[in-house]
Amino acid sequence: MQYLFATLLMTKDLFGKALLDYQNGNYTEDIITSTNISDEDELPIPYLFRGFKDMPKLEQKALQLSKGQVLDVGCGAGSHSLFLQEKGLDVHAIDISKGAVSVAKARGVLQVNQKGILDEKNTYDTILLLMNGTGIFQELSQVSKYLSHLKTLLKPGGQILIDSSDIAYMYEDEDGGLWIDTNANYYGELDYYLSYKGEEESPMTWLYLDFNTLYTACKSVGLECEKIMDGEHFDYLAKLS
Ligand SMILES: C[S@@+](CC[C@H](N)C(=O)[O-])C[C@H]1O[C@@H](n2cnc3c(N)ncnc32)[C@H](O)[C@@H]1O
Repeated sequence: MQYLFATLLMTKDLFGKALLDYQNGNYTEDIITSTNISDEDELPIPYLFRGFKDMPKLEQKALQLSKGQVLDVGCGAGSHSLFLQEKGLDVHAIDISKGAVSVAKARGVLQVNQKGILDEKNTYDTILLLMNGTGIFQELSQVSKYLSHLKTLLKPGGQILIDSSDIAYMYEDEDGGLWIDTNANYYGELDYYLSYKGEEESPMTWLYLDFNTLYTACKSVGLECEKIMDGEHFDYLAKLS
């Protein structure tokens, strides 16, 4: 918790600023991201305000499977929460970003709090972690800690719906060979850089987890792990129970 607090103090919350700008009609440019293994890319801010029709099939499926009391972890602008709330579900949303929480509130998410997942204590029938939900685990060495905590937040018969990608393809060279260094950290652990309107965020670590590694980690903490569906580009939706 102390570490998370320190992280919150250090961050400039540029992600939240970008969401606030869009919400307040000050959208002039997108977020720029890059990683230690990939060049700069744009993250279009309107995408973070997507409606059901513009969501990837994996997310649509996760929303269709959601039931009971729902926790939307890392809610961002609250797009998933809003959809479920409109369907009549009892949705609670959390995010560490102050800006994201303000935007989710302004868009109409009724129960939203600025909080990291490790500080959540209530129990739920459905816990959603979407748009590479494993990212918030940050490193492979922390996956068991996060999964064990998520398990304590499940009501009897509850489910965790989480998506991620196997990013081995990002290490492919032109001949189709892989250049993964087997002595280095797990290949899905990335240093992630974000900038917005000329300001740079403190570097973060962001974890992409292939399904087999997630499955093994779930088993080690006593969670069942089932692949619900594959996405269009090495991504998948899993249900943990
Ligand atoms: C990739 S964005 C996804 C936002 C939203 N779920 C969506 O699909 O549009 C990840 C979100 O997780 C939040 N986040 C990161 N670490 C978190 C943590 N430990 N607990 C709660 N939220 C976290 C970030 O602030 C960010 O809003």
